[in-house]
Amino acid sequence: MNHPRCDQTQAWAALKGHFEAHGRDFDVRDAFARDPLRFASMSVEAPEVFADLSKNRLDTATQKFLLDLARECGVEARRDAMFKGEPINLTEGRAVQHAALRAPRGAGLFSDDVHGVLDAMLAYAETIRDTATSGIRHVVNIGIGGSDLGPQMVVPALDAFVHPGITFHFVSNVDGHDITPVLRKLKPAETLFIIASKTFTTQETMANAQAAKAWFLANGGTDTHKHFVGATTNIQAAAAFGISTTFGFWDWVGGRYSLWSAIGLPIALAVGADHFRELLAGAHAMDQHFAKTPAAKNLPLLLGLLDVWYRNFHGFTSRSVAPYHQGLKRLPAYLQQLEMESNGKCVDLAGASLPYATSPVVWGEPGTNGQHAYFQMLHQGTDVIPVEFILVKRPTHALTDLHTKLLANGLAQSQALMLGKTPLQAAAEKAPTASKELDAQTLARHRTFPGNRPSTTLMLEQLTPRSLGALVALYEHRVFTSGAVWGINSFDQWGVELGKALCSDLLPRLASGDVGGLDGSTAGLMQRLRG
Ligand code: F6P
Repeated sequence: MNHPRCDQTQAWAALKGHFEAHGRDFDVRDAFARDPLRFASMSVEAPEVFADLSKNRLDTATQKFLLDLARECGVEARRDAMFKGEPINLTEGRAVQHAALRAPRGAGLFSDDVHGVLDAMLAYAETIRDTATSGIRHVVNIGIGGSDLGPQMVVPALDAFVHPGITFHFVSNVDGHDITPVLRKLKPAETLFIIASKTFTTQETMANAQAAKAWFLANGGTDTHKHFVGATTNIQAAAAFGISTTFGFWDWVGGRYSLWSAIGLPIALAVGADHFRELLAGAHAMDQHFAKTPAAKNLPLLLGLLDVWYRNFHGFTSRSVAPYHQGLKRLPAYLQQLEMESNGKCVDLAGASLPYATSPVVWGEPGTNGQHAYFQMLHQGTDVIPVEFILVKRPTHALTDLHTKLLANGLAQSQALMLGKTPLQAAAEKAPTASKELDAQTLARHRTFPGNRPSTTLMLEQLTPRSLGALVALYEHRVFTSGAVWGINSFDQWGVELGKALCSDLLPRLASGDVGGLDGSTAGLMQRLRG
């Protein structure tokens, strides 16, 4: 597939000119004053997700140039190649087929394999969820990165659907402070350990798995075959560990795209087979939207292009995600891996260095907590950081008063970011806590908000397995889009290798004290650690 690099396209040049002429000084407030229908024209409906893009530094001309850019960079052609199963993960010679994991039976690639494992895994999950028979009260998922963050994000998000008789724990860090307090709560006979690792070689996961097995045997556990189960592509290694029940998946499922596969076992155990299938169905609906909806109304495509606009033309270096739903408290962490491991690359598909920026930093906390921590900087700091609000219309609890307050807060923050407050408005207000010593003008300057700070609002009717599936798939395809524009491989992660290799070298040195050949800082730190 031969497409020009994004910065060599006509659209890129047009966007540069457009940015200088209209983008740099674009004011969303003026745009609303000029166009009262802006909200309607800049909102997009996708399966389960409504998106308001109108508070962004964006107009129809910008969108048109961005859509031209997508076309020239071959985003849709790359998308079609992904869905067809072509080996678009060039550096590993692999297809990228997480969408096949959520296609209905008979509809996607590898359907027999996918549904064979899915059926077996869901049937197994139901036997464990029958706690009267299984005796299982605690499930411990041991995995890291993509073998942890997906289930760890989804299980609390779907709390309203989770089996009330089973507690879910997630152990990922090789720091013993992670697993120790978890083990303290467990009894071997009531516990199921899932060893989740695509490769079944990851240091952290293997170390925690060994620690769990040792604890199990030391505390009277006998039947490891019943209490340890594997989710992996490396069934042989799982067997060598002593696991006889394993749910497999395939090399065309990337770790950070794997919650739909056997890696989703904790989710299936938590919410049951029907809800797991709903999660898949929601994601599949978003796949269809991404694959088939014309570009101008294609939400993942539009969001990915907006990311390019902000990163490469406005020069914004990060994006903050603010889910106004406590259940989505791990979504920012999940998105960090999804976006930054996928698009944190500095060479193109041919290995040539890139002269433009790629992945932004993605970060955030649930609202309203973030408001009382870092929102100060979002409103008055020197950096402009686009914010993504996620609002959920209907809660799954009955505390409607709290929910109304939550929604009002979310709306107010995006409104405040956009509207700001002029020095004149600030001067006209009473500020009871302000110092009486300061003159009014100085005070007003401290209390001024620049405004015109961009945000997107994604809205769900309710947080259900189906809507969560759609939301996560939306993010996957959005990351695909910006990665395709940038011409990078969003599906490898060579950047994690160097640290792993150096760690293998340092591990024996920490024991022996051998600092020969090490750089001065590492040698000095090691000596202090050993001292
Ligand atoms: O740290 C890199 C990484 O390979 C991630 O991409 C992956 O999700 C994680 O490690 C865990 O890998 P595995 O599932 O093979 O244990």
